[in-house]
Amino acid sequence: MPTTLTPVSFTATDIDAIAQATGRVAVVVDPEGRMGQSARRVNRLTKGAVKRFVDSDGFAKVKAGQVTTLAWPVGMEAQAVDILCLPRAHSVEEARKGGAALAKLRGSKDLLLAADGTRRVAEIAFGLVARDYTFDDHKSGDDENAASGAVTITCSQPEAAQETAAPLMAVAEGMFFTRDLVNAPANVLTTTEFAAQLKALSSLGLKVEVLDEDDLAKLGMRTLLSVGQGSDSPSKVVVMQWNGGGDEAPLALVGKGVVFDTGGISLKPAGGMEDMTMDMGGAGVVAGVMKTLATRKAKANVVGLVGLVENMPSGNATRPGDVVKSMKGDTVEIINTDAEGRLVLCDVMWYAQDRFAPAGMIDLATLTGAIIIGLGHENAGAFSNNDALCNGFLKAAAAENEGAWRMPLGQAYDDMLKSRIADMKNIGGRAAGSVTAAQFLQRFVKDETPWIHLDIAGVAFVKSDTPLAPKGATGWGVMALNRLVADKFEAE
Ligand code: BES
Ligand code: MN
Ligand code: ZN
Repeated sequence: MPTTLTPVSFTATDIDAIAQATGRVAVVVDPEGRMGQSARRVNRLTKGAVKRFVDSDGFAKVKAGQVTTLAWPVGMEAQAVDILCLPRAHSVEEARKGGAALAKLRGSKDLLLAADGTRRVAEIAFGLVARDYTFDDHKSGDDENAASGAVTITCSQPEAAQETAAPLMAVAEGMFFTRDLVNAPANVLTTTEFAAQLKALSSLGLKVEVLDEDDLAKLGMRTLLSVGQGSDSPSKVVVMQWNGGGDEAPLALVGKGVVFDTGGISLKPAGGMEDMTMDMGGAGVVAGVMKTLATRKAKANVVGLVGLVENMPSGNATRPGDVVKSMKGDTVEIINTDAEGRLVLCDVMWYAQDRFAPAGMIDLATLTGAIIIGLGHENAGAFSNNDALCNGFLKAAAAENEGAWRMPLGQAYDDMLKSRIADMKNIGGRAAGSVTAAQFLQRFVKDETPWIHLDIAGVAFVKSDTPLAPKGATGWGVMALNRLVADKFEAE
């Protein structure tokens, strides 16, 4: 079952409703302790509790976007008053952080956020909705029947807030789709099930085609097929087109969709192998962005392509030492069957350029463990042949507080891929593992195609909470790519 967004309604300020509100009531104060009319009403009802809090030493330590709770307030029906600290001129990041903090405290209780004239209420709502995510598809219990409380935001301009919130909710829809896909176990999200879920996006107006193994063989996608040939799940490529623009060339998004990566014959060690259920993270982000663009009806042409395969060992699996020919025509000596993502991507990237002649191409992949060694879980690695496109992306990522850091490319790294018997090997040495992986991909990028490779192995799935997500799949990249499309590819 897809995780649904918490519905948020915006209505006009109604201070008379505050005393009777059940569940939780939240109000906003600024770092100087200034209150709007709703906060003042709560202060009066609680006989000055809010004022005593803002006058206390503790309040001086409270940062923008943080929430402090007054439990079981006298004079009110609510079980708690949550005081959100936000300066009048706060950032998008602070507003979202505040919303996320409220979501964490709320659980499934009703919440009335009486925001009065607070700015960026739509961003507060976005933070709240984005953080209100749990992946409980496989938890038994009576959760399905447990009603989740309603979230109401009262503010001075509810219609304007509603209008600003609509495209942000489309972003949350896409992000939740990505998270659900990435969190799903590999026996549930098989290549076939993945393709079916993408096909279902056609109800949003996307044109979705599923290419099966026969189609891929005819196209000559031998390196992609070589990865999936040891699995009982059939390899597939899914093409999703959103034509919201004019007749200009599209932006192409290409995703690695390895539904499970055992390493193949170059088998991974047992410890932690279960995490490789997230090895379709790149495809998950592409799917999420396409869903967002279609939901908000973006005025842009964007095509999303994902390579869906499972990397398994078997009597039919690719062996180390095998040589296969890519769709481009170059041959690859497969030294290590665990360096499979690049073998999937190179064929899909070539197909994307061959068929769509895109104005730009961005591939996303949980490609290397080495990027986690280099950048941890804070930043994705960005590799690019085009400064303008890359800087545009980095700017969009920074605006959305999604970490990305540019990494180098260069001939010396490319030389590490030389093979004795084929056009290239599929791995370099131990050194610069993320760069040689990117270098491999660049061999399949036409000179005229502006391109970014995003290695998201460290950011797609994390073991601790992030500002907008509980531990597990983050949906990293949906916000940044949506913004890049809005900034650089959308007509206004
Ligand atoms: N899917 C892995 C990379 C990965 C590692 C993603 C950890 C997320 C967390 C990729 O297919 C892989 O196995 N890469 C190898 C490449 C090596 C064989 C050159 C790696 O990183 O060890
Ligand atoms: Mn691998
Ligand atoms: Zn992999």
